[in-house]
Amino acid sequence: MNVVITGASAGIGRALAAAFAREGHPVLAAARRGERLRSLSKEMAEAGAAPVACLALDIAAQGAPEALLAEAVRVFGKVHVLVNNAGMSPYQEFRELSCTHLRQSIGLNVLAITELCHFFLPHMLAHGEPSRLVNVGSVGSYAPLPKFSVYTGGKHYVRVFTNLLRRECRATNVRVCGLYPGGTLTEFPKLAGQKPKKIAAAGMHTPEQVAAIAYPAILAGKRVIIPGIANQLAALAGKVLPFPLAIRLMEFIYDMSVEQVETTYPE
Ligand SMILES: NC(=O)c1ccc[n+]([C@@H]2O[C@H](COP(=O)([O-])OP(=O)(O)OC[C@H]3O[C@@H](n4cnc5c(N)ncnc54)[C@H](OP(=O)(O)O)[C@@H]3O)[C@@H](O)[C@H]2O)c1
Repeated sequence: MNVVITGASAGIGRALAAAFAREGHPVLAAARRGERLRSLSKEMAEAGAAPVACLALDIAAQGAPEALLAEAVRVFGKVHVLVNNAGMSPYQEFRELSCTHLRQSIGLNVLAITELCHFFLPHMLAHGEPSRLVNVGSVGSYAPLPKFSVYTGGKHYVRVFTNLLRRECRATNVRVCGLYPGGTLTEFPKLAGQKPKKIAAAGMHTPEQVAAIAYPAILAGKRVIIPGIANQLAALAGKVLPFPLAIRLMEFIYDMSVEQVETTYPE
């Protein structure tokens, strides 16, 4: 399968790109930091994995989703897997969130994912071979995350959109899948402005653990992929508890596990 992954310069996207390439699937890795993508490509070549091509771009910029599809078609001809993984959000109450960051958050977590599906889905339907559209949400797609109001709203959108799109595609060659990770030891917490406390760090996944769970589940075309029992329980709590209880539970977990520090996302 030919695979396109956004946000492949770090974290979960990088680990997934490596997992696909090591299993023999050619990858087009996209993110803003081209040097990071080239170092992944070199590492995969040295490991004897399938080739990893790179495209440095801001996927939330106007015209970027079309540009990514055009590059993927140029490199592969046909794309079989798109993983919409790139995501961001400062860990701040809404009144602290700058207008730049809220635009970036909605632009990347909501609009870019939707546009990427809009451009890649017709391409996959047209070639007719078994394909996967994968949208990366979060446990916050189910449970309310304190100090992440815009992010949680966006990740709820990702889950609802993904499920409805899957339903629309049920009689086609395309399986639409949602990957919903919980706390993962990537650049995300530091950029967001979260300092995990010792107790939290112990319970977090590495991006490689997330990729090891997600890779076979994506190939199997699963609708919902939630890595780990603790995250599955948090998602279940978000689904079944009334909001006032769910938010209190999540506030309790966050108070125990993270400290708010300055976000390091550039303005
Ligand atoms: N880590 C967690 O605890 C956690 C928990 C739940 C869900 N998630 C979700 O998992 C996904 C991956 O997160 P992660 O933890 O791996 O984060 P990460 O380590 O911060 O990596 C984010 C990736 O997205 C890329 N990116 C950010 N903005 C971009 C843009 N405008 N255009 C193109 N690429 C962009 C970054 O690369 P460049 O900076 O090079 O562009 C990087 O490769 C996200 O959707 C996130 O919401 C993460």
